[in-house]
Amino acid sequence: MSEQSTGANAPTPPTATAPDAPGTTPSAQALTERGSNRSQRPSSAAFRRFISEGWAERTSTAPGAGPAAPYTAVRRARLSALFPGERLVVPAGPLVTRSNDTDYRFRPHSAFAHLTGLGTDQEPDAVLVLHPADDGHDAVLYFRPLAGRDSEEFFADARYGEFWVGARPSLDDLAAVTGIPTAPLDGLADALAKDVGPDGVRVRVVPAADDDVADLVDRARAASGRSEDELADDDAELAEALSELRLVKDEHEVAQMRAAVAATITGFERVVTNLGRAVAHPRGERVIEASFDGVAREEGNTVGYETIAASGDHATTLHWIRNDGVVRRGDLVLIDAGVEVETLYTADITRTLPVDGTFTEVQRRVYTAVLEAADAAFAVVRPGTRFRDVHAAAMEVVAARLEEWGLLPCSAAESLAPEGQFHRRWMVHGTSHHLGLDVHDCAQARRELYLDAELEPGMVFTIEPGLYFKADDLTVPEEYRGIGVRIEDDVLVTADGYENLSAALPRRPDDVEAWMRGLRG
Ligand code: GLY
Ligand code: MN
Ligand code: MN
Repeated sequence: MSEQSTGANAPTPPTATAPDAPGTTPSAQALTERGSNRSQRPSSAAFRRFISEGWAERTSTAPGAGPAAPYTAVRRARLSALFPGERLVVPAGPLVTRSNDTDYRFRPHSAFAHLTGLGTDQEPDAVLVLHPADDGHDAVLYFRPLAGRDSEEFFADARYGEFWVGARPSLDDLAAVTGIPTAPLDGLADALAKDVGPDGVRVRVVPAADDDVADLVDRARAASGRSEDELADDDAELAEALSELRLVKDEHEVAQMRAAVAATITGFERVVTNLGRAVAHPRGERVIEASFDGVAREEGNTVGYETIAASGDHATTLHWIRNDGVVRRGDLVLIDAGVEVETLYTADITRTLPVDGTFTEVQRRVYTAVLEAADAAFAVVRPGTRFRDVHAAAMEVVAARLEEWGLLPCSAAESLAPEGQFHRRWMVHGTSHHLGLDVHDCAQARRELYLDAELEPGMVFTIEPGLYFKADDLTVPEEYRGIGVRIEDDVLVTADGYENLSAALPRRPDDVEAWMRGLRG
């Protein structure tokens, strides 16, 4: 598997070129053609004819509309209403090189997934464009459709060719699945430039999604007369709107979140089942990571973010993803992990487990404080509560416990004041973030619609307080040092309160111990 990739920008893949003989000058073979010096691709006309013939007719599968299609139509209509008369460009993004001629698995940009319903592996280089129309916008999905068997791409293109990466959908296939009219990607440049001028159509593109598309857009809107700063603002406003569009999840999205949570719980069960093996392994944290990530691939697309498998003091490093430590009996292990399902919605759940299956007295004390902070946060979740007050509720408990334990340099009340915040030494992160297609979803939303906003039914976010006492923190008694606890659940705001989507994964210490006993036999 080492064929050189020959992407969109290399319309004519190189024909077989003899590698430079030792001692010949490098210029005999262009640098760009040397990605795979091992490859000798046949190129005779006879071979080209031979490989293009003798294949069974493609069976037309005529797919029906995907289950997301009615929902994505509503989402596009909401976006359309925000930008009347403008052209909106939402790229899926390109394949990304991992090294030399190998790419990462393709994951489309979350805004593209949200507006098209396309998920796993679909569709590199595709671009959704909302063209202004009399009654709103006409959506068109531009992409690179399945190439014919008579094309060089069919057998010779390691990045896009059917021999290498499998058959792509046809224009009709993707139109049927998404409910969006489709067009070949090579028509994009002209379509973007149509009617652009000083008094013409304004064009906005999602920033940082696809550099090649951004270049095309910039070329198209060169005629607009708008300054670079104005264009950057135009694009930032689009990103903001796309982020805000996802603050309240629709019924289809909530179903995807439930599926992501269910798969994630299966992942945590696999982790507990394999804890004995983790203890026996010199890099036990990797056993935990691999256990969870295996389930993520089996049950979903992959993980929604790098799994955190942090044993002992590693749990006090918030994003410990190196996961190369031992897992010791008697310690706690913090696992922060989420399965991203095929539609790309992800869960984000943390459990902190006693490696032996039983909390020690001090571990239980810290764990219970974090649990009480989480419960206090849950207790205020209902429509009308401000998002920031969920965090405030958790912090009241955290500060109170730290005061009880004599760790604060002042009273809890003084610490909770804006000019205090001493308790945050042991929990520097926030309590909640929106969750959905991105683990930190809706990140470009305006503050007044996020932190300062009132909760609404359909919002999904995490509640994830923690306490982290580093091994070298001389301000805490020795018995606390090296203990890190986070408990993270995924919450849906309902009409009159909330639903803890991850409630099926035990979180109370006795329940955790019983659940672990059950899984470990
Ligand atoms: N796993 C990242 C977070 O909890 O926000
Ligand atoms: Mn989180
Ligand atoms: Mn997390």
